[in-house]
Amino acid sequence: MTGKPGLFISFEGGEGSGKSTQIRSLEKWFQDSGHEVVVTREPGGSPGAEEIRNLLLTGDPGRWDAVTEAFLMFASRRDHVERTIRPALADGKVVLCDRFADSSVAYQGYGHSLGADYIRNLWALAIGEFKPDLTLVFDLPIEIGLERAGARFANVSAAEDRFERMGTEFHQRLRNGFREIAASEPKRCRVIDATGDIDTVTQRVINTVKDSLVGQGR
Ligand code: TYD
Repeated sequence: MTGKPGLFISFEGGEGSGKSTQIRSLEKWFQDSGHEVVVTREPGGSPGAEEIRNLLLTGDPGRWDAVTEAFLMFASRRDHVERTIRPALADGKVVLCDRFADSSVAYQGYGHSLGADYIRNLWALAIGEFKPDLTLVFDLPIEIGLERAGARFANVSAAEDRFERMGTEFHQRLRNGFREIAASEPKRCRVIDATGDIDTVTQRVINTVKDSLVGQGR
């Protein structure tokens, strides 16, 4: 990638898919090959966006209606893109982002049934054509994901668990949504089988990233 602009990779999937752990492994993999890496997340990733994150992830599951929630997601995303992601890419860095706009398509579009087109329109209004170079979609059966997420959140006191507490049907729509997103943009999006142990999934991630970078001529 030397001499080329930076690389933007987003990590997507339902609850408990293990993507946060895999981001750390990929961060190390890029660093070991001499790249500067920025790890960031959504909602959040810049001071203003982190403030919006707090509004979004705490409180009652019905705290926001779906449209308000979608606008808050894109308000935070706009700030994050302008103040964190674009500057890092301009410096030639690798940006690894825990969730990005595909999460809005999946959660607000499919999960809350606003529809993918509605969210894609908001996407265009907020950040134009900007999108990741590569999106890894971590896929696993929802029972396994919710069990993993439940174990994690049982240990957190000020739980950011508004979304985990939405019903099973919501999570099933979410999984289907992510799969449809991946199928509609097969060049940018790669599905990662997130079942199995951490090392096995890490190997799948690295193989997929290598393959995709070669495919993109990087
Ligand atoms: P987080 O604690 O970061 O969860 P996870 O480890 O699952 O990524 O919380 C982010 C939550 O916000 C998660 O439940 C997904 C949801 N979300 C949306 O609904 N829309 C979005 O656009 C984004 C970025 C996240």
